[in-house]
Amino acid sequence: MKYSRISEIKKDEFLGKEIKIRGWVHRLRKQKDKSFIIIRDDRGGIIQCVLPSTSVQDLTIESSLEIRGILFKDDRAKEGGYEIRGVEIIIYNLANNDFPIGEYQSTELLLDYRHLTLRTRRMINMAKIRATILEKLRNWFVENDWIEVTAPTLVKSAVEGGSTLFPVKYFKEEAFLSQSAQLYLEALIFSLGPVWTIGPSFRAEKSRTIRHLAEYLHLEAEAPWITMNDLFTIQEKLLINSVQNVTKERIEELKFLNRDVLAFNQIEEPFDKLSYGQAIDILRSNDIKIQDGEMTRKIEWGDDLNLDSEKVLTNDRSNPVFVYGYPLEVKPFYVKEDPESQGIALTADLLLPNGFGEVSSGGMREENITVLKTRIKKEGLDMNSYSWYLDLRKYGSVPHGGFGLGIERLVRWIINLEDIKECVLFPRTMARLNP
Ligand code: 4AD
Ligand code: MG
Repeated sequence: MKYSRISEIKKDEFLGKEIKIRGWVHRLRKQKDKSFIIIRDDRGGIIQCVLPSTSVQDLTIESSLEIRGILFKDDRAKEGGYEIRGVEIIIYNLANNDFPIGEYQSTELLLDYRHLTLRTRRMINMAKIRATILEKLRNWFVENDWIEVTAPTLVKSAVEGGSTLFPVKYFKEEAFLSQSAQLYLEALIFSLGPVWTIGPSFRAEKSRTIRHLAEYLHLEAEAPWITMNDLFTIQEKLLINSVQNVTKERIEELKFLNRDVLAFNQIEEPFDKLSYGQAIDILRSNDIKIQDGEMTRKIEWGDDLNLDSEKVLTNDRSNPVFVYGYPLEVKPFYVKEDPESQGIALTADLLLPNGFGEVSSGGMREENITVLKTRIKKEGLDMNSYSWYLDLRKYGSVPHGGFGLGIERLVRWIINLEDIKECVLFPRTMARLNP
């Protein structure tokens, strides 16, 4: 007899029928005569099983097993009113009696045992939503005729500044873990047109924050002959389309995680666009402070936006908002200067509402080789490792641009999670390389 997924058999049409399921002991309550076992299957499906206590005497939490039995409906049954009255039980593996994950555990312990924590319903729901987010983002690019590419993760040069590079010993040379696939995508637009990729990016972030990982999943897109306005529209459509499809398809999982999905239906394009100057005015009138070396002082024109700033700019919104036109100094060497506004970069960050803040950064890329060389020098980067990138400006350069979006940042917002570590299966941070 074939075994079934639990989600398939919790239906009235199977009442009174014999069924077989496989899974793990999620909860266990042994009484004198009969025992109640909550079984979790390999897609996180949950059902209550009742068996005579004599047949489950040694049973432990997380033991793997198969149960054959008859499906009943019982309003008292936990998890949806269906219950399997067991006829036969086969144990695959009797788990040690000390499964470390229970109902109330410290965040640290849950992270130490992440390989086991992933079996909790919270994590299962997160993982399913994350998978659907990736699926919907991918679909959008496929449907809109962008070509998927991949870029190396072992690289010779920085994209986002030298301070967050991870060095790696690479045979006899020093290499780094890639911070962004952008420079490679820029090389590919000449032969493939609009391209996109999804892969890990690495940042040696020395700060511990609720929205920084040392390794994160990065979705990046790049296209030739594009404008700032195109970049706004692409990101608006990509985001709205994916988010609304995810909330439709994963409504049960989002509900389980107490996420109110109504807010997502109110999101509409176009998103508001704040210039950097407008943003600074708002922040100054809110008396936002920043850390400047040892000193704390009021934010002023020329400063980068920190988490507090992004909170103020997004707190009362239901829509995401773009902040565009940052000073060149706070952005990397490749950004293009606005021909109409000296010292201003043709870039935009997309901030998610309700304090979640930056989810993507993008903009137009500098085409002028002399300007690029000056900027590379100014950032203190090694010119030799950019020679291939500079070639792209020698042979038929065109106006082009793109953006990069942090998947965990998006997951964090969609599920409304406090800490970004919750949005990835095996988080990597300054304090964590294991499991
Ligand atoms: O803003 P960033 O650094 O921009 C780039 O890397 C560009 N080269 C992308 C491009 O234009 N192709 O990173 C892009 C996004 C951020 O907006 C943020 O969502 C996410 O990547 N991100 C991180 N997510 C988690 N942990 C970190 N340490 C992150 N650093 C950036
Ligand atoms: Mg950024």
